[in-house]
Amino acid sequence: MSLETLLNEARLIDMSASIETDRSTTIAAYFKRAQEDRLGFWEDRARELHWFKEWDKTLSWNKPHAKWFEGGKLNAAYNCLDLHLEKYGTKTAMIWESEDGTSQHLSYEDLHHRVVALASQLKEKFGIQKGDRVTIYMPMVPELAVAVLACARIGAVHSVVFAGFSATSLRDRIQDSDSKLLISADGGYRRGAVVPLQAIVTEALSNNSCPKLDDVLVYRYISPKEPLADLGDYQVHDYLETVSENPVHHDAEVMDSEDPLFILYTSGTTGKPKGIVHTTGGYMTHAKYSARTVFDLTPNDVYWCTADVGWITGHTYMLYGLLSNAATIVMYEGTPDFPNQSRFWEIIDKHQVSIFYTAPTAIRCFMKWGDDKISDYDLSSLRLLGTVGEPINPEAWMWYYSVIGKERCPIVDTWWQTETGGIMMTTLPSHKPLKPGSAGFALPGISAQIVTVDGDAVSVGGGLLTLTEPWPSMLRGVWGDENRFIETYWSTLDTYFAGDGASIDANGYITVLGRIDDVLNVAGHRIGTMEVESAIIEHPAVAESAVVGIPDDLKGQAIMAFVMLKGGFEESEALISEIRQVVSDSIGPIAKPKMIMITPDLPKTRSGKIMRRILKNLACGDSAGDVTTLGNPDCVKEIEAKCQTL
Ligand code: PRX
Repeated sequence: MSLETLLNEARLIDMSASIETDRSTTIAAYFKRAQEDRLGFWEDRARELHWFKEWDKTLSWNKPHAKWFEGGKLNAAYNCLDLHLEKYGTKTAMIWESEDGTSQHLSYEDLHHRVVALASQLKEKFGIQKGDRVTIYMPMVPELAVAVLACARIGAVHSVVFAGFSATSLRDRIQDSDSKLLISADGGYRRGAVVPLQAIVTEALSNNSCPKLDDVLVYRYISPKEPLADLGDYQVHDYLETVSENPVHHDAEVMDSEDPLFILYTSGTTGKPKGIVHTTGGYMTHAKYSARTVFDLTPNDVYWCTADVGWITGHTYMLYGLLSNAATIVMYEGTPDFPNQSRFWEIIDKHQVSIFYTAPTAIRCFMKWGDDKISDYDLSSLRLLGTVGEPINPEAWMWYYSVIGKERCPIVDTWWQTETGGIMMTTLPSHKPLKPGSAGFALPGISAQIVTVDGDAVSVGGGLLTLTEPWPSMLRGVWGDENRFIETYWSTLDTYFAGDGASIDANGYITVLGRIDDVLNVAGHRIGTMEVESAIIEHPAVAESAVVGIPDDLKGQAIMAFVMLKGGFEESEALISEIRQVVSDSIGPIAKPKMIMITPDLPKTRSGKIMRRILKNLACGDSAGDVTTLGNPDCVKEIEAKCQTL
């Protein structure tokens, strides 16, 4: 997508009439209250949760360390389940749609029952205590949600690892979090094929690589009759047998507002992903408030977020934010193109989905697949659409608006991050007209600004996106790495630096342009350039590599790797596909480079730093730019010539 198209967008679409008057009035009151008394506003929002004991102090801000609602006691799973039993016990909490088209409806009572059963066993059978870490590596089945909520119920800190990640990624995350227990499955389905999770787990745990891990709980989903694999040093247990063992009921653990709720690993600018830590009271406050406000939730809505629970979107806007509002959610196991490219529309029609939240990459795929894939389905149940994860080009926005939303449904383009825990910016349709491609405005209670590198506010134009005041769901740290927390988020500016570049127009609309650090955004997934580089050099033929992001019509960005071979190795198709495979094995298929170019040298400064900027310019067909600081400027010509043949 060209930046010019995004920045020249001038259309404003007024969708205020689509929001009921009482809810518009509420939102207007939120803006006013947050403006007049920010902390008072957050106290009001926190009171929407159930607290066993109210907090003593709303905020302690010792930059960059925030404590919200100190002294307050609550439980996240209690707020998602127990709280609703009386009024909504028989209401559907989750509609699970499997890849093969069968579905299950779980009421709040059903989900509660399953969560209590697992939670009790986590305590009794596995001795998991408050504060212990539990890694969850599962396909998109209801048991994944049950596992997450069961951990929350007993105060264990969950770390969900997306089931598309490799054995190495899983092992690194179990080790980094010092998890005591792994909850997994024998496999999952993807486009009709089995994803062999059992084999990946076996590989991840081989050679007693995770000595702090005691037990592995396996949900036999694919082959219920197959014996469980022997995992050597670890005790392996059958999930279904375990939960049917008639456990004693335990009350939900009383957690302090600042007790960690979960760790979620995300990519950064080094080769090692960082464990973002979220705590209980602040995270839940924002999750409940923002889900209701942004998605205009009402009791009869059927809400579908297409993200995997392994990402922050799945944590906040599939589980915690929605269940705490007693909503009905759809959870879908599969991909949008299996068994055919109409699968999502069939699900919307079948379950009468009213709110649909997905990623721009998916929207661009739908556009490419053609409107005829949609025409056979009734989408009239839809009333609000959302996007997340990457900038959306105005063309895709307009298509989503007219073809899917039939010009009836407002679109909330929501900007946020794993670190922010919940949505920070979006244009609320009752507040302002929508601007295609632009996330718009900070939510009530959130303070976003565009600033120069010196931290001066920009009133119109481009700059760095920063959040200037602490907010309840902000990350509390990077697990086990305080320096990285400070260095990454708090050393560029005086305020929280999000890593994104953005632009603000004369009407105050903020358009997020994308990452300005060494982090790529491929199909809405965050991938660190250094992570991919570290994987590539694992191949024995590789001497060095540099990875850059190049524009991609479908995925927003694609990965291009420049690779220098060791002496004695020759460029070949086979070698290139081996290198791609090494990345897939080391990180997961989502990180496979789209293009690999073998080069005799990589442009470096005299001190030896690889100049990725030059490579990126060349890969995009631009001129190299300033090469005067290079120690080896000659290689630029060669690489440029090779790039021109692409
Ligand atoms: O670059 C921004 C982009 O996604 C990054 C956060 O990635 P992650 O932590 O994986 O969370 C994704 C889901 C919240 C941001 O730094 N991003 C997210 N939403 C948008 C976006 N870029 C533009 N517009 C958005 N709406």
